[in-house]
Amino acid sequence: MSFAFRLFPAAGDDMRADVLAGLAASPKAIPPKYFYDDAGCRLFESICAQPEYALYRTEQALMRERIGDIAAAVGEVDCIIEPGAGDCIKVRRLVDALRPGHLVSLDIAGAPLAAAAEALAHDYSGLAVTALGMDFIHDLEAAAPHLPPGKRLVYYPGSSIGNFPPDAATTLLARFRRLAGPGSQLLIGFDLRKDPLLLHAAYNDAAGVTAAFNLNLLARINRELDANFDLSRFRHYAFYNPTAGRIEVHLVSLAEQAVTVAGQRFRFNCGETLLTEYSYKFVPREFDALALAAGWQSKAGWEREGFAVRLYG
Ligand code: AVJ
Repeated sequence: MSFAFRLFPAAGDDMRADVLAGLAASPKAIPPKYFYDDAGCRLFESICAQPEYALYRTEQALMRERIGDIAAAVGEVDCIIEPGAGDCIKVRRLVDALRPGHLVSLDIAGAPLAAAAEALAHDYSGLAVTALGMDFIHDLEAAAPHLPPGKRLVYYPGSSIGNFPPDAATTLLARFRRLAGPGSQLLIGFDLRKDPLLLHAAYNDAAGVTAAFNLNLLARINRELDANFDLSRFRHYAFYNPTAGRIEVHLVSLAEQAVTVAGQRFRFNCGETLLTEYSYKFVPREFDALALAAGWQSKAGWEREGFAVRLYG
């Protein structure tokens, strides 16, 4: 078994600066990457098991059913790079099919990533696993020295790309391309535009798990940035905006209130929102254009029940 883990230390300082800047902005906003502390990672896994949140299950079913075609289209690969690898479960099917020599897993949640990647290395004796605990949105380029030479495939499943507005998504995909280098490929999963009521329900599950996931961001800030958000005075409010083609996730203040974060005071009006996430939904052809602007040519694609996986090279 071959396993290496490296933790990039900047993440903590960035969170403080990003949260303070986000609360000072108008409208107030905090980047969704800060959802994923230990509790947030567990809540996200629970979201994926909710009946209303089909996204995860549909992608898994698509990958299960089409893995033969996908592997044939991808061809030979020496190294899989997975930004936002999380629990490293999804990539297993790809490792089984492609048998690369090397897997490089990146995630902002360093400790859960290290555990998951080590377990994976344990199960695949011929695979060298490198886990990089990093905020890849910020530090992606720092992964370069950890990549082995050879044919590389960037795997970015789960519609994580939907967190980024189109311009930022293009920039991120261009950075993936620069990191992976000439001749590399991108296998990416994204959620499609569909019935707005289905999309609405996926972010408003009856069990309240998405609400808990959203509010956990405030609990995390209370703990890590010495803040005093009163979680009972914020409402999870998520809706589909069909003009923009995105889910918007907000925390709306239920009262006029002041909150202290890292020694700084912030006022909320009653009804004022703190934006915590966008989740863009796409049309396949528009996504191809977005990828092309980042230098990725469309090679193949698969669809199932409002979800798409596409291959670019
Ligand atoms: C991990 C960004 C794909 O946008 O559906 C799920 C995160 N937020 N429910 C998504 C999320 C609320 C998820 N992504």
